Amino acid sequence: IEATGRYADRFGGQLVLVTGAGSGIGRATAFAFAEAGARVIAVDRDAEGASRTAEMSRLIGAPEAWAEMVDVSDEQAMEKLAEKVATEYGVVDVLVNNAGIGLSGRFLDTTPEDWRKVLDVNLWGVIHGCRLFGRQMAERGQGGHIVNTTSAAAYQPSRALPAYSTSKAAVLMLSECLRAELAGQGIGVTAICPGFVNTNITSTARFAGVDAAEEKRRQQRSARLYGLRNYPPEKVADAILRAVVRNEAVVPVTPEARGAYLLS
Ligand code: NAI
Repeated sequence: IEATGRYADRFGGQLVLVTGAGSGIGRATAFAFAEAGARVIAVDRDAEGASRTAEMSRLIGAPEAWAEMVDVSDEQAMEKLAEKVATEYGVVDVLVNNAGIGLSGRFLDTTPEDWRKVLDVNLWGVIHGCRLFGRQMAERGQGGHIVNTTSAAAYQPSRALPAYSTSKAAVLMLSECLRAELAGQGIGVTAICPGFVNTNITSTARFAGVDAAEEKRRQQRSARLYGLRNYPPEKVADAILRAVVRNEAVVPVTPEARGAYLLS
């Protein structure tokens, strides 16, 4: 972990909740807020990953950090989390809806079950987070910020990722609508759109209806691509903190995401 000190104490005393904080971009984001003095709630369905993030966040500089094992697509579990957070930790100042899963496969090969899984986590998870924590922010009346991790896939059509891209496009639009709705209450909303970032998501993504030879070619292609880009999650985390500080609306991160955004 590199301590840049760029946002030293900028988030001192603030309460930040990050979902999907057990690895990748979410973990790097929790660390960046910890380094900036925030109290951190690391939420993930992977209990071990979340605990490790919370433990490390304390070492990095978070005055307090907690791990919560929650599946963001589970409405009741999210409601329980929102209640617990409000009672035990306080109202969240910054919410980062970042948990997400990948799914590759042509549209005609994907099943309704595939679609449900991706939309349940990538879209419904964000809806639950925005609804529950956004309401607490609005009721408190002291502003706040919501960051939703979407993707360059949200505005860049691809034959390989129809379900994933659709889920991310929905989150992009939700973020923009919510930004308009909550602006009057001093609550900012940002859609973060990374391109290719080196994390687990590529290795854990499921592939629908793609034959083994094609899958192997795809993996070789993406290994070249990821190898070339080599974009670290810490840089996405940095863009997230900057977006909160500057109250930015849509933030394409990574060079190819910026390029595709300009063309979209
Ligand atoms: P990752 O796989 O390293 O991290 C995702 C985390 O979310 C994991 O810790 C996982 O356990 C957690 N998670 C998954 N489903 C969950 C659920 N239902 N409830 C709670 N936690 C859950 O992947 P990465 O790359 O850090 O992904 C973070 C976000 O960034 C995702 O929304 C992803 O779609 C998005 N993204 C990633 C890009 C990349 O190239 N890595 C590019 C564009 C967007």
